Amino acid sequence: MKMLTASDVEGAGPRLVLGKGDRLTPLARDRAKELGVELVRADEPVTAGAGRTSAVPAALIAPAAVRAVSAPVQAVQTPSAGSRFVLPPSGVMYRRNALGPGFTAMGPKHRPKAAVVGAGHVGAMTALRLAESNLFSSVALVDVVPGLAAGLALDIWHGAGLYGFSTTLEGSDDLAVLSGADYIVITAGKARQPGMSRTDLTAINAAIIEGVCKAIRIHAPESTVVVVTNPLEEMTHLAARYTGFADERVIGMAGVLDTARFCSLVALTGQAKPQEVRALALGSHGPEMVIPLSQAFVRDKPIESVLDAETLKGIVERTRESGGEVVKLLQKGSAYFSPAESAATMVHAMVLDSGDVLAACVRSRMAFGVRDTRVGLPVRLGPRGAKEIVTLALRSDEQRALQAAAARIGVRIDALDKPT
Ligand code: LAC
Repeated sequence: MKMLTASDVEGAGPRLVLGKGDRLTPLARDRAKELGVELVRADEPVTAGAGRTSAVPAALIAPAAVRAVSAPVQAVQTPSAGSRFVLPPSGVMYRRNALGPGFTAMGPKHRPKAAVVGAGHVGAMTALRLAESNLFSSVALVDVVPGLAAGLALDIWHGAGLYGFSTTLEGSDDLAVLSGADYIVITAGKARQPGMSRTDLTAINAAIIEGVCKAIRIHAPESTVVVVTNPLEEMTHLAARYTGFADERVIGMAGVLDTARFCSLVALTGQAKPQEVRALALGSHGPEMVIPLSQAFVRDKPIESVLDAETLKGIVERTRESGGEVVKLLQKGSAYFSPAESAATMVHAMVLDSGDVLAACVRSRMAFGVRDTRVGLPVRLGPRGAKEIVTLALRSDEQRALQAAAARIGVRIDALDKPT
């Protein structure tokens, strides 16, 4: 009997054969799912041809696995000559989103560059999460406050050996540091204070977004932009306008955060872990948030069969107010751990081309029958931003709520576009 770890999974190739009584750590099971490694018991028949295509070099496939595989081993591709293969951090060092074998096989020099604008709490945390994923050659952090971004970037870099990443960091008060960035997360702007709505930030943050986006257009014309600054839908619209980028390359972060909040609040009922809840928070990052319960599940069960309607209504309401709840508790500034995690999750999904469908603020172009504006919808992200809006079979009340949300957002966006 053996306890198999994440590194056993990473070195296994398309299949990992478990001997009698062998067990996997939860991390190893997680890693197997992410890499598509099939787990088979030695005494179970193996389905021929079921192997996945992988970039794991044949040399790294455990001999035991090769013996047990009746599917063709040639399905496994080796990296091209001269490329470097670096095993991702594994075991206790492994973190979610860490570099997988397929990605490392590209070699560090091919890793994209990420940048974060605004070195407040959300910006600094986002830079940390991007850096520690090791998916990027470098992460640039920029802030108007002299020394702030440089100090934080140096601080993050000091921990590189402890985290186990080789991504370099640079910090500056000059937007030229964005030069050549492939992915840019904009967090710059004022945060809410107690008693403020996100819309109260419109005028001040619009001016900041204009300056930042004009610089992005000059220094990183090929980048894909994730907007975090509030009010989210309005700022995403302005970012698209001032960068002049295709709509697909300017995406707002809020749905991932609102969805995560919903899942965490569901977990507080004791019915599931947050990661066992699947849902999508659509509409606006604010009062017009729409969480279609027909699309929410606890493990594989429809959420409405697990929790009663009153409980669910309360959870949806609290999700809508969660940002404000944190602002009120903090008394100064707004949430940052989960917003940063959400922004980093979106960038990671793009870099890894994970195929995951996430809720994100995009140009709707009449999807779901909503008006053409910027609104939270289910989106499949790819390396160059939004690949597609994924249509779901919403119930008619959910569809109407989404249409109403888009209509109200549209009015606010129209007001921005009117000459003052
Ligand atoms: C919040 C900010 C990110 O909801 O809008 O906490």
